[in-house]
Amino acid sequence: MTSLIIVENEQEMGRKAADIIGNLINKKPDCVLGLATGSTPLSTYQHMIEDYQQSKTSYQQVTTFNLDEYVGLSANDKNSYHHYMITNLFDHINIKSGNTHIPCGISKLPETCKAYRQALTEHPIDLQILGLGANGHIGFNEPGVDFDSTVHVIKLDEQTIKDNTRFFESERDVPTQAITMGIKDIMAAKSIVLLVNSENKVKAMQALLQGPVDNDCPATILRKHPDVTIIALKKLFKNITIHQ
Ligand code: F6R
Repeated sequence: MTSLIIVENEQEMGRKAADIIGNLINKKPDCVLGLATGSTPLSTYQHMIEDYQQSKTSYQQVTTFNLDEYVGLSANDKNSYHHYMITNLFDHINIKSGNTHIPCGISKLPETCKAYRQALTEHPIDLQILGLGANGHIGFNEPGVDFDSTVHVIKLDEQTIKDNTRFFESERDVPTQAITMGIKDIMAAKSIVLLVNSENKVKAMQALLQGPVDNDCPATILRKHPDVTIIALKKLFKNITIHQ
């Protein structure tokens, strides 16, 4: 079942997502979280940090798995998702670094995929946080991806490279490949929260809400998941009519 929460702004989006995460941790202190990077979850991470500081939500027993990492960037690279997670979340909460998992995009990629797949099987994800790509990707599962895919190396779409150039000095610096959880890994999460925050994603969100389930827009597969919550900004619904 999919539920849709429409929010006024990114702060409210972050608050709602952090509340869902906080409630899960209260109920299940040793839960497994699937995490995303990029601009979308930043406000969620800020609210998680606030909850940790003010309400003492403890991450002591929590395990995390990130969706993806760029191929070729080391953990120290300021554009790597390792660096992003450490600076935007992990350094500010009491999570054990040994309980955090992000695929390594540097070497032995087939072995890394296999080990990550195995780790995911051993630690089923309770709650997966997702952002949405303008082309409908989730994780880095680009259009055309096999819905049965597990952790794999993927060539990034031209649009993804263009969209992510904003984080790099120039388009030339954006890695062309990434290692990503597959659609099957994402769909195995017990519950999913998808955050949609900007106008360039309206088309993909409309396809997700109303179009056919089709790997041209990988996010449409989420319609087959039993527990998905979409949190989206109100301004994105100006030109979308929801058919009941
Ligand atoms: C990031 C990820 C991607 C992003 C998506 C949206 O870990 O898996 O699917 O969630 O590209 O990126 P932003 O949030 O930067 O618009």
